[in-house]
Amino acid sequence: MNFWQRLSEPAEAVVCGASRGIGLAMTEQLLARADVARVWAVARNARQAPGLATLAKTHGERLQCLDVDVCAETALAELASRLRDAVPHLHLLVCSIGVLHSGAAKAEKGLAQLELQGLQATFQVNAFAPILLLKHLLPLLRGRHPCTVAALSARVGSIGDNRLGGWYSYRASKAALNQLLHTASIELTRLNPQSCVLSLHPGTTDTELSKPFQANVPADKLFSTAFAAEHLLTQIERRGPEQSGTFWAWDGQPIPW
Ligand SMILES: NC(=O)c1ccc[n+]([C@@H]2O[C@H](COP(=O)([O-])OP(=O)(O)OC[C@H]3O[C@@H](n4cnc5c(N)ncnc54)[C@H](OP(=O)(O)O)[C@@H]3O)[C@@H](O)[C@H]2O)c1
Repeated sequence: MNFWQRLSEPAEAVVCGASRGIGLAMTEQLLARADVARVWAVARNARQAPGLATLAKTHGERLQCLDVDVCAETALAELASRLRDAVPHLHLLVCSIGVLHSGAAKAEKGLAQLELQGLQATFQVNAFAPILLLKHLLPLLRGRHPCTVAALSARVGSIGDNRLGGWYSYRASKAALNQLLHTASIELTRLNPQSCVLSLHPGTTDTELSKPFQANVPADKLFSTAFAAEHLLTQIERRGPEQSGTFWAWDGQPIPW
């Protein structure tokens, strides 16, 4: 049985990083499903995000936009409390937040460009925020209901696959994210035997995050957000508790840690 077939009720889904890019496309595709009750769309300015406003016109109350800076733990606690008041449990948590080159975060080419501030900013969004989000939403994930936690990682976070070097902060933050998720998958299995925690690589996708690095990407290797979202949701659909704590590419290929 796939993820959707295991559900005994329409899904309550949270997409964190829903304002734009791959997270927005995943939100749109989840809302198109009759077996999804509601999508809770989280971003710093979710209620002002044009893409989410367009979806709200079609889906009304099935889309709930929540303004949360996931880098602030008090904001995460408030988010969890708001969700606990509204739903008994969550079936799907997608975490699509990530930075590569905005603010203090830099896509360093060499050691000389490495700065503490950049390392900290990148780890904050890419590794610390997703695992603290999971910590705060844990009461809604534990139990006996089917639930999947899928975080967008990146192939460049694989140590085994690293042959090019560069992008120190981004690579290391995604490797840290993978370790944090794998560790959480072990705990979550004890707290909910029907849980599944996945690290997913979307493929190079045309978003603000990849914009400065698209020049050398062949056109057929640069995905639209709709294409990436569709394939990531297929991975979520196919994977269950027995595969919790694993790392997959958009096309179903396993990625070495
Ligand atoms: N695009 C690619 O080629 C590619 C490749 C491999 C992996 N990935 C991964 O895929 C994921 C999605 O990337 P994308 O390309 O869709 O990026 P994007 O278009 O730049 O979107 C990033 C998302 O992260 C959110 N975010 C960033 N900082 C936040 C914060 N402090 N609090 C709340 N939300 C925050 C943004 O929301 P705001 O509106 O609040 O800024 C936005 O929704 C990332 O984890 C990325 O590392 C992407």
